[in-house]
Order: sequence, then structure tokens, then C-alpha cells
Amino acid sequence: MRQRTIGDVQVGAIGLGGMPMSIEGRPDHERSIRTIHAALEAGVTLIDTADAYHLHGNEVGHNEILIAQALASWGGDTSGVLVATKGGHLRPGDGSWTLDGSPAHLREAVEASLKRLGVEAIGLYQFHRPDPKVPYEDSIGALRDLLDAGKIRMAGISNADVIQIRQAQEILGGRLVSVQNQFSPAFRSSEPELRLCDELGVAFLPWSPLGGISRAGELGDRFAPFARVAEAHGVSPQRVTLAWMLAKSPVVIPIPGASRPESITDSAQAPDLTLDDAELRELDAPTLREAR
Ligand SMILES: NC(=O)c1ccc[n+]([C@@H]2O[C@H](COP(=O)([O-])OP(=O)(O)OC[C@H]3O[C@@H](n4cnc5c(N)ncnc54)[C@H](OP(=O)(O)O)[C@@H]3O)[C@@H](O)[C@H]2O)c1
Repeated sequence: MRQRTIGDVQVGAIGLGGMPMSIEGRPDHERSIRTIHAALEAGVTLIDTADAYHLHGNEVGHNEILIAQALASWGGDTSGVLVATKGGHLRPGDGSWTLDGSPAHLREAVEASLKRLGVEAIGLYQFHRPDPKVPYEDSIGALRDLLDAGKIRMAGISNADVIQIRQAQEILGGRLVSVQNQFSPAFRSSEPELRLCDELGVAFLPWSPLGGISRAGELGDRFAPFARVAEAHGVSPQRVTLAWMLAKSPVVIPIPGASRPESITDSAQAPDLTLDDAELRELDAPTLREAR
């Protein structure tokens, strides 16, 4: 697979989002392992996870454990795989998502993720979401201290606006390597953050790039231009969506989720799909009228 860069690490231009394998509607263990193995077979070397990707209150880190198991049981070389996890979000087990961006929580969360992933340092640790109860500089200050202590190799942020991106870059002393924000045909308002990442040379990881777990399958029905371009190339509208994002900037690395091997195998071929300028203009045009 074509490569892109996060910090000082080269990864495949398409990553795997682990969330569908651990939250509501998740598949059985065996299918999840097959899905992660299919990603690795396809050349995926970035796997996105979070300690909060679990369903019940007593299984924090379900997705991190799954990924560690899949890496351990895969026959190939996994030394080039970057596992990117996150902290600062919690799931009490009633279906809700809560926040704790306090430095004390982030320090504890990193220790727990280190154990579950079975590593001495986390490859990429991302602050999951700003916590309005905690000054942003305190949360990012905790990430800086974790970097300095060698507990995490690289630091990223998620759900951040342009001001927070600049603030994080400053607090981390220029060591911010990635921003993970929502971005898809249905949700385009992260374009200013994408542009800033392009300017700063910071990786931009679109989350829910296909519109999210429950709507990813309808992408072609909801957005006619993506269906038209897909038909012209004889590929899926999902693959067209990922290729469109990749064409926006060399810093873009989408992380489509999957709970079936076929999904990630299809998505992983997006870097080989070249769209011409006219197609990119058509896909760029606002499709709000078509979004249901
Ligand atoms: N930072 C944050 O706050 C945040 C929030 C949400 C998500 N995320 C991350 O972003 C990742 C991606 O987002 P997401 O999983 O919510 O949504 P998504 O990537 O937009 O959609 C995921 C769904 O797309 C389907 N899919 C994937 N590739 C496909 C293809 N080529 N053709 C047809 N269907 C395809 C999969 O179906 P199957 O299940 O059938 O395989 C999967 O369930 C997550 O897994 C998570 O790692 C981060």
C-alpha cells in the first residue's frame, strides 16, 4: 500500500478503525480477529483504537485487547504496525460516553493501555476529546509529560478546533503529530482543521469517514456524486470516498472502521484509485441537498 507519514513513522495511507468490533452491534471474537488479519494482509499498518471502545462497564479496553491478540496471532511481521490509542473518554456501561481529561486520569489510563497492548511505550497516544471541566492546557500538559517520560512515543489530539490544534502544538513543543476529527461526505465542517494540519505537516485522521457505523452502507444512496464516480470506475462508493479524502492532502490518513474482512479489504484499495480533477470537483461540491 502507498505510504504516508505520522511523526517519524511511515504507515499505509488507509488505517483500520477498531470501534465497530467493540461497541454496540459488534461481531463475535473470531470474526473480529479475521477482520484485523485481513487489514494486515492488505498492508494496513495503522490501527486506531481507544480504551473507551467497549460495551459493558467492566470491559474497559476491549478493543485494545482484541488488537493485541490479533497482532500476536498473525503469522506475519507486525513490527511496522502503529497502534494508535486514545484516552479521556469513558463508557460507564449504560450506552453513554463521559469525559475525564484530568492529568491524573490520563496518567492512569496510559498505564492501563500499556498493559493491555503489552508494550513498553504506546506508539501514538491521542487525547480523545476536550473536557470542558479541565483546562485544555492541563490535559495536553499531561500528554507532554507522558512523552517526556517515554510512556508514549508520539502524541495526537482528537475532536480539536483550529485554536486547540495551535495550542496543543505549542504546549507539546512542536511535537504534535496527528489530529483525528470527524470528516465525511456528510460532515465536511472539519475542512479548516484539515487545511491547518496540511500547513503544519501534522497527520489528519478523518474519523467516521464513511458516515459512521450505521450509515456507511448507504453512502452511495445518500450522495449521488459518489455513486456516479464509483460506477464509472467499477468500485464501491466507499472506496471513492476514501480516495477523495486522500487527494485532499498528503497529510490525510482515513481510518475506516470495519467488522468484516471484506470491508477493510475493499477500503484498503483506495490509495490505488486515482480520481481526475473533474471528479474531485464534483465530489467537493456541497451535497447538502442530497443528504437525508
Ligand atoms: N476520535 C473520535 O471521537 C472517534 C469517533 C468515532 C470513530 N472514531 C474512529 O474512527 C473509526 C472509523 O469510524 P466509524 O467506524 O465510526 O465509521 P465509518 O468508518 O464511517 O464506518 C464504519 C463502517 O463502514 C463499513 N465499511 C467500511 N469499509 C467499507 C467498504 N469499503 N464498503 C462498505 N462498507 C464499509 C463497515 O461495515 P462492516 O462493519 O460491515 O465491516 C463499518 O461498520 C472508528 O472505528 C474509530 O476508530 C473516532
